[in-house]
Amino acid sequence: MPTLVLVLLVFIWIPLVVPFTIIMSDSGTPSALVDAPQTRFSMNNNGARTDPREQAAVYEIMKATGNGWATDIPDVCRGRWHGIECMPDKNEVFHVVSLSFGALSDDTAFPTCDQKRSFISPSITKLPHLRTLFFYRCFSYNPQPIPTFLGQLGPTLQTLVLRENGHVGPIPPELGNLTHLRILDLHKNKLNGSIPVSLSRIMGLKSLDVSVNSLTGSVPVLDYPVLSIFDLSQNLLTGSITSSIGNCPSLIRMDLSRNHLSGPIPDSIGNLKNLILMDLSYNQLSGPFPNALGSLSALQALILKGNAMDSTIISGNWYNGMKDLMIMVLSDMSLHGPIPESLGFLPSLRVIHLDRNRLNGTIPTSFQELKGLSELRLNDNQLTGRVPFIRETVWKMGRKLRLFNNSGLCYDPQNGLDDDIDSLVDSGISYCETSTSISAPTTMHFSNFMGHRSTYVGRSSAPIYESSTHLHVLLLILFFISIL
Ligand SMILES: *[C@@H]1O[C@H](CO)[C@@H](O)[C@H](O)[C@H]1NC(C)=O
Ligand SMILES: *[C@@H]1O[C@H](CO)[C@@H](O)[C@H](O)[C@H]1NC(C)=O
Ligand SMILES: *[C@@H]1O[C@H](CO)[C@@H](O)[C@H](O)[C@H]1NC(C)=O
Ligand SMILES: *[C@@H]1O[C@H](CO)[C@@H](O)[C@H](O)[C@H]1NC(C)=O
Repeated sequence: MPTLVLVLLVFIWIPLVVPFTIIMSDSGTPSALVDAPQTRFSMNNNGARTDPREQAAVYEIMKATGNGWATDIPDVCRGRWHGIECMPDKNEVFHVVSLSFGALSDDTAFPTCDQKRSFISPSITKLPHLRTLFFYRCFSYNPQPIPTFLGQLGPTLQTLVLRENGHVGPIPPELGNLTHLRILDLHKNKLNGSIPVSLSRIMGLKSLDVSVNSLTGSVPVLDYPVLSIFDLSQNLLTGSITSSIGNCPSLIRMDLSRNHLSGPIPDSIGNLKNLILMDLSYNQLSGPFPNALGSLSALQALILKGNAMDSTIISGNWYNGMKDLMIMVLSDMSLHGPIPESLGFLPSLRVIHLDRNRLNGTIPTSFQELKGLSELRLNDNQLTGRVPFIRETVWKMGRKLRLFNNSGLCYDPQNGLDDDIDSLVDSGISYCETSTSISAPTTMHFSNFMGHRSTYVGRSSAPIYESSTHLHVLLLILFFISIL
């Protein structure tokens, strides 16, 4: 089942960015029948056939999705299509182990569903060997709850993907009976109610994605030793992030963004030594900044924006462990006080967003040392003093350097600012006052310049997400790197 594995990887790693662009296929054939026999039907297997009860069940399941054509196939494991996988037992009887539905891309497609009429047939429970069940965009115009009978698939099922299907109602507690599930993906449905406690029975869960639903209640108490993907983003969850999050040491990606979570970030997150992405943005989390962040030694992206933490950025050595941190997004958090000099010692930083806070003091000179820095937003703060960048740095960052609406920032002409450098001028930053005579003529020149550049002068009203594509590209790269 190499196709499905790759598809799942793409689903799991990329949804932040582009939902489905890269789907690996093992052939270009769409949902039509594949003529060739199932790979495991070798020459010696001519007598092999599919278990007749499972065959009848597959016919029912196919009919329920509008794929009645399948009933013309004398042996479903032999005349196979993309989306069915079978395995022989020791008596050469074939069993259905995987069923997948939904057009993933133009050139790789599992059987598509009739979105207005499809439903999940209870005959699914007659496939006792089923390991993978995958429905993508299947029931969108025939909204239905996730059937409770799926729980009867018991300990055999390993992967359950019900993605963008328009499912309504609660997540059935019966899914907790799927005790050997590794992947549970219910992304982008219309599920409501709370996340059932019974899911905690699934000890071997590796990926839990219930993002983009309307789930309420609290983040479940977690105790998943091998969980690596945990995505509850874009729901209506309330309450705090409990310290049980520390019981998931294998976490690689944690996304709880865009909920209504409150309270502080627990110190136990310091246990998450494999965490690469932490996105807790747009909740109501409170301060202070947890020192424990500093022990997240694998972290590459820290995204906390839109939580009014009303805190200072801790200036101690809490960054010491974060040698791989590339992306730090701390916008709009009511942060105050100085930007710690130690930030400039995070060697991998490429993107820093500290905009729309109340930070004061100067831009740390250590920022000059960030050789990979390509995007810096410090706009809408109360920063003062000299901008510590040489001309080349300013030029390289261009409009990704945002400093506007900081009343006290100025640029030292000796650093080589020239007329062709838009960003600082656009930001309304003037030359620093010096004791020498430079200021009068410069001011005049500067205002002329502002005049014919007026298109960019009012940049404080620029859309918040204007250049977030850049961030997304970085995130994309980051996740590809981490797959390899
Ligand atoms: C599955 O789980 C539910 C609730 O969690 C329970 O009531 C039921 O008896 C379990 N067993 C089966 C076979 O569904
Ligand atoms: C879930 O949504 C349905 C309507 O789709 C509604 O009838 C039901 O009360 C909701 N349940 C909860 C727990 O919000
Ligand atoms: C920053 O603001 C705080 C109070 O908000 C003040 O005590 C401190 O002196 C300010 N620091 C600078 C460098 O302006
Ligand atoms: C400037 O930034 C402050 C936050 O430090 C903000 O409250 C204010 O609205 C901004 N001014 C403009 C003109 O955007």
